[in-house]
Amino acid sequence: MARDLVKIAFISDLHYSLFPNSACPERRGEYMPSILAKTVKKINAEVKADLLLVGGDLINFPEAEEAERLTAIIADILSLADNMECVVIRGNHDISQERFVKYFPFKEVTDIDFVRIVAFDDAETPNYNANRSLSDLKRMRKNAEFDGVKFLFQHTPLLPRERCIYSYDNAEEILQLMSELNYRGALSGHFHQGIELFEENNLQFFVQSALCESPFAASLLTISENGIECVEKIVS
Ligand SMILES: [Fe+2]
Ligand SMILES: [Fe+2]
Repeated sequence: MARDLVKIAFISDLHYSLFPNSACPERRGEYMPSILAKTVKKINAEVKADLLLVGGDLINFPEAEEAERLTAIIADILSLADNMECVVIRGNHDISQERFVKYFPFKEVTDIDFVRIVAFDDAETPNYNANRSLSDLKRMRKNAEFDGVKFLFQHTPLLPRERCIYSYDNAEEILQLMSELNYRGALSGHFHQGIELFEENNLQFFVQSALCESPFAASLLTISENGIECVEKIVS
């Protein structure tokens, strides 16, 4: 039976590491297995989401010897999410795409009833920004052929440029294409304090805060055929 509402749980920026982060002490990635396990348990028990999105930066040190092992540990914990699809994208702190897809196969498009999530793995550019390639701009066009509510899902905040210190080098072009192709909005991570849901020019934008920083929160997005109706914090 068709749903009236689709529920999406959203987690981002786990920054799992074996040791406390002396350069960024607010990142408590050393506690991640337990924080993530509690969050997944809460989503299973109370939230009953249709889809789980994980917005990248699963680990903190992609060059560390243990990087792949820590990624595998995160994959094991995320596999405990019950009865929901899970879409995991790569952030700038994650292992290479080639290695990452062994744990999280890239899902270009995920459809849950009337909601479509179109995922990206964009190249990082200086100052922790990103750029969407010509082929991914073309893919935005191809993946727009869907009669429902469509969201773009990427690690770096895709927003009007003045809204965040991080953005896309070609943000204006992407936003223009979003409007032209009738995308409803963009869901992102990377900016650890997060940005609450806002709407501009009929586009909705949301940046999930980092799970590795206080208050160690995930979110629940409730989506109707009009777009995101509300965002609730999930704190375990
Ligand atoms: Fe991050
Ligand atoms: Fe990041």
